[in-house]
Amino acid sequence: MKVGDTHYRSIWFDDDAREVRIIDQRWLPHEFRVVALRTLEDFAAAIRDMWVRGAPLIGATAAWGVAVEMRRDASDANLAHVTEALLATRPTAVNLRWAIERMRRLLTPQPPEKRAAAARAEAQAVCDEDVAINEAIGEHGLKLIRDIAANKPAGEPVHILTHCNAGWLATVDWGTATAPIYKADAAGIPVHVWVDETRPRNQGAHLTAWEMASHGISHHLIVDNAGGHLMQRGRVDMVIVGTDRTTACGDVANKIGTYLKALAAHDNGVPFYVALPSPTIDWTLCDGRDIPIEERDQDEVRKVWGRLDSGAVTQVRICPDATPAANPAFDVTPAKYVTGLITERGVCAAGRKGLLELFPEHAREARDD
Ligand code: MRU
Repeated sequence: MKVGDTHYRSIWFDDDAREVRIIDQRWLPHEFRVVALRTLEDFAAAIRDMWVRGAPLIGATAAWGVAVEMRRDASDANLAHVTEALLATRPTAVNLRWAIERMRRLLTPQPPEKRAAAARAEAQAVCDEDVAINEAIGEHGLKLIRDIAANKPAGEPVHILTHCNAGWLATVDWGTATAPIYKADAAGIPVHVWVDETRPRNQGAHLTAWEMASHGISHHLIVDNAGGHLMQRGRVDMVIVGTDRTTACGDVANKIGTYLKALAAHDNGVPFYVALPSPTIDWTLCDGRDIPIEERDQDEVRKVWGRLDSGAVTQVRICPDATPAANPAFDVTPAKYVTGLITERGVCAAGRKGLLELFPEHAREARDD
């Protein structure tokens, strides 16, 4: 997607400098900073401390981390060390495990002298595939938006609520939940986006609002608690969110607060869609309660980042000094509240049957209990 006149991906290999670069998302929307990741500790910190975030981008970053390390030391011991270190960075987004397993499967049988080149090509393939997957999600989601638009008075926008940032910044490009929005906008369908601010880290306010503004898409930032009210008043036509892990039975883990949006959507008859790239499906689980939920530092709840009128970007405390905070970073929306899963192969019912109709090659591994 474009930033100003320049097309960016969220992660890329710079051929001249021979290094991996990312957009450091901790500073958005106030500053656009590009940084290089050079060591295993850089890659691990970038994922753990959320310089990059979003399930697909976490996976892509891990793939590049393996590739960069294989250039330095392609031994079996280092391959094991690197993959374990990266796996330990964040627990919920299954794309991390998917990407690392993919790298490990490819590299393990190869002699060490071939691993660096193979790993680099594979990391690039992970990124290119992510872009293609998300664009296809965009095409399938576009049809849903088009159908809703067709039932509205001409020229009236389709109002879409989204939570967190499942935008291009959360993927390599396009985004998952945002891809249909970008496609609809390009197709001339008027859309308006309700952007949940997404406490505690405010990915909606910091990242989705920035993406929408950068692409000239009509939007309003809302507090997390406003969605239910807007749905009751008929001001939301559909919800589209991303996911960090969806089970074979269609239960969806996503940023904390998603479940409450699904309940409100269900109560108000608002369709609730989840944009789901296939690497985000965990075929080894059925019950969403088995998904590990990341607990993050309590200071993410006790403090917020923002920009002062002076221009300085800083953090301020919002509660008494001694207040303890709990910070579960994700929740699980049961499949019964999900209207449909928008995948790169089409839209399906949230459940084992629907997923296997689109991905029959996983029939043997897909759990059903
Ligand atoms: O904690 P984050 O910012 O990594 O959480 C991101 C989300 O919850 C996204 O909705 C999800 O990863 C889907 S990204 C296409």
